[in-house]
Amino acid sequence: MKKIILLFLISHFCAICLAQVKVDHLLTENLNNPESIDAKSPALSWQLLSERRNVNQTAYEIRVGTSPVAKQFVWESGKVASPQSVFVTYGGPELRSGQAYYWQVRVWDENNKVSPWSAVAYWKMGLLNSSDWLAQWITPGFREEASRPSPIFRKEFHLHKKIKSAYVYITAHGLYDAQINGKRVGDAYLTPGWTSYNNRLQYQVYNVTGMLKQEANVIGITLGSGWYRGHVGFNPKDGLYGKDIAVLCQVNITYTDGTTETVNTDNTWKSSTGAIRSSEIYYGEVIDHRKEQQGWTLPGFDDSQWSGVKVNDFAKNTLIATYNEPVKQHETIKPLKIFKTPKGDQVIDFGQNLVGWVKLTVSGHAGDTIKLSHAEVLDKPGDFYTANLRTATAQNTYILSGSGTETFEPHFSWQGFRYVKVEGFHADLKPENFEAVTLYSDMRATGSFSCSNPFINQLQHNILWGQRGNFLDVPTDCPQRDERLGWTGDAQVFSRTASFNMNVHNFFTKWMKDVAADQYSNGSVPHVVPDVLEGPGSHPGGSTGWADVSTIVPWNMYLAYGDKRILENQYASMKAWVGYMEAHSHNDLWNVGDHFGDWLFYSVNDDRFGRSAITSSYLIAQCFYGYSTQLLINTARVLGKNDDVNRYTDLLTKIKRAFVNEYVTRNGLISSDTQTAYVLALQFDMLPEELRQQAADRLVSNIKRYNIHLTTGFLGTPYISHVLSRFGYTDIAYQLLLQDTYPSWLYPVKMGATTIWERWDGIRPDGSFEEQSMNSFNHYAYGAIGDWMYRIIAGINEAAPGYQKIIIKPHTGGNFSFANADYETPYGKVSSHWKTGDDQFYLDVQIPSNTSASVYIPSKNNGQLLESGKNFKADIAKDGYIKVDIGSGTYHFSVAR
Ligand code: BGC
Repeated sequence: MKKIILLFLISHFCAICLAQVKVDHLLTENLNNPESIDAKSPALSWQLLSERRNVNQTAYEIRVGTSPVAKQFVWESGKVASPQSVFVTYGGPELRSGQAYYWQVRVWDENNKVSPWSAVAYWKMGLLNSSDWLAQWITPGFREEASRPSPIFRKEFHLHKKIKSAYVYITAHGLYDAQINGKRVGDAYLTPGWTSYNNRLQYQVYNVTGMLKQEANVIGITLGSGWYRGHVGFNPKDGLYGKDIAVLCQVNITYTDGTTETVNTDNTWKSSTGAIRSSEIYYGEVIDHRKEQQGWTLPGFDDSQWSGVKVNDFAKNTLIATYNEPVKQHETIKPLKIFKTPKGDQVIDFGQNLVGWVKLTVSGHAGDTIKLSHAEVLDKPGDFYTANLRTATAQNTYILSGSGTETFEPHFSWQGFRYVKVEGFHADLKPENFEAVTLYSDMRATGSFSCSNPFINQLQHNILWGQRGNFLDVPTDCPQRDERLGWTGDAQVFSRTASFNMNVHNFFTKWMKDVAADQYSNGSVPHVVPDVLEGPGSHPGGSTGWADVSTIVPWNMYLAYGDKRILENQYASMKAWVGYMEAHSHNDLWNVGDHFGDWLFYSVNDDRFGRSAITSSYLIAQCFYGYSTQLLINTARVLGKNDDVNRYTDLLTKIKRAFVNEYVTRNGLISSDTQTAYVLALQFDMLPEELRQQAADRLVSNIKRYNIHLTTGFLGTPYISHVLSRFGYTDIAYQLLLQDTYPSWLYPVKMGATTIWERWDGIRPDGSFEEQSMNSFNHYAYGAIGDWMYRIIAGINEAAPGYQKIIIKPHTGGNFSFANADYETPYGKVSSHWKTGDDQFYLDVQIPSNTSASVYIPSKNNGQLLESGKNFKADIAKDGYIKVDIGSGTYHFSVAR
């Protein structure tokens, strides 16, 4: 009997545990325990975890204190009746510069049951005022050589009391690498990252409490030219932001007795040069271990021969805390193959086109010089091919000191490559000597997509690797040639796909502030951001589909994450861009200016039959004018700016009318009879209702005329499949997806691509290359199809921004027997896994707590829906779907088709 009671109690207890909601995954400003933020009212987010279904938050309570075990709090929200569990803004008293804050939250569920308090999360405020910076900017105290070896700086200091905490605040004009007592500070690379330096310069903060000793300590800093004064862009000049390389560093130390001390860059520091003899982003790094000043970041090193430093009064009012995740090392990849090319080069194949660098471990004699060159592809005969890197030599040179085993890797340069040519290596190349390391912004992976077709899985792999390689603090066009710039068009077309694969909220929030900072006073938007092509004050930019980054990315981020603040922050910039187009229009027609158009669309040499898919760039411009205006209206509506809603709604009506008058015949033929023209007109609702279906039909005939190939460039490609699905042609979209001859998504896959190519035919069927002046094998733009794979094939969509309401609507086709997608929303994981078989359709769905979903299941049999083997009530929806509305939880649906 006792046993039975015990069992009953245990199971009852377990049921309570199961029933109880747990609060976890606390984020501040979408970051896990950030060490420095400068938001005045940080946004706090959490997730509700529960095994139960239909879990909803009805209220929350937050408390914030200045210690992890606080009994008294600086802010207690009290019980707030609200379902909001993401981006809840702090509402307490003003936050103090440099102060750490600890917070917890508990929630009430739909049964009004309160959860336990969450574990304690943390954030630390940055230095909010320029006067908090006691450090001074310092530059080397010696005359730099022409080759610009990396300057090194050191400061030895003694601490006499027991240390409670110590934080390094650091930034540079250039890039920095810091060490304390012989160990690297932090695991971020290419810091302080790239921003519109003249307006916004990020600093980083590192907790170094465990690195300092209560005795002699040394802080040592190495600088590289980086984006600040290195060579970037097409401009043959370097030093676009300034000629001087400089560092600003402050160590804030608190002792256990409550007293504080700071160690700052100032005129007491020493400077010299060391092993890094030169370093440039495009050209690589030269490291000479014979020049390494052994022990220079350790106490006791004799720096009497070193120079002093110069103190400079560079700006401090542009300093900002780091908002996005810093660049970190990620995958490490061992050589797949080591071989000799027909020309006799020793080459390593890493099997993946990647971005980062090769770590070389070697022993040899002093002065032995090993050169590593990088390439994305081999040419037709199988030789090492670098012509497509243009002037980027992308070569690292390592000179051995001869003292045992030596390890080399660059610091302030990186490469985009799959193959590495090795010169000067005196022994046989062994896999253990080489390791490729990837580098990219440390964004959380959020999505995965797979299906029964291995080529499509490779396509998804290529999209993901394109993102990994090109989300390196700013969204770059490509990672290998003498470019690597924040091309605005590329970023906007890929932004939605990017938000599925990784959490890009902070990445784009930071970059969009640079877009606004570099926007010209007349509202035009530069082609690249940070703007190193034109520079402040100039007024070009303004290319359609590129400049629209200013409206499209904020809106896409709002849809993905539901954080209104990006709309608030960018509103003025959005409006300025629409204002620019309005100001340059005549009779509501925007048909002036230089535009990149539907960049890299299908075109044919000696085009006698007019097969080239040329879309008028002014027609495109009118479509994007309409779309940007629509997004401005949407944004104004979210922000409650009703006057603007009205004003721009009127404008949009006129823009559309002008479009139809100028570019569309009475029967609905568009004057550029191309896929892109129909796609943009339909995607952006530029046509009146009655002309839409016929336009979609014309699009399909066009696709058929090209024997089921796409002919779209950068601007048409992201939307073509969505338009087809919207107008009932998902079957054609599948056929396009599965096409594997040029031009198509799978053609590069069939040619062995491991990333997305810049051109549909970077390597032609006969093995020859497209023109070397523009032929990147790692350019994410055409990877924008990923969005359709998540949203249409797997069917995961937001019904409300940020996914508190979800739609799951899979689309079968292409002979796929299954497709699986998982996506980590701000609320938790959404899954849609479907498979077909024996005339049945199976759909496994996961919906996170505190959200709900409408699930559409492809079947007409609403009476036969089973969930986990039991009957489940469904409604008939349109278009061959049945529909169920569900709350959070895991569901296994099956139905006869
Ligand atoms: C870049 C592109 C960019 C384009 C603008 C190229 O050099 O690599 O991706 O969008 O220029 O036309």
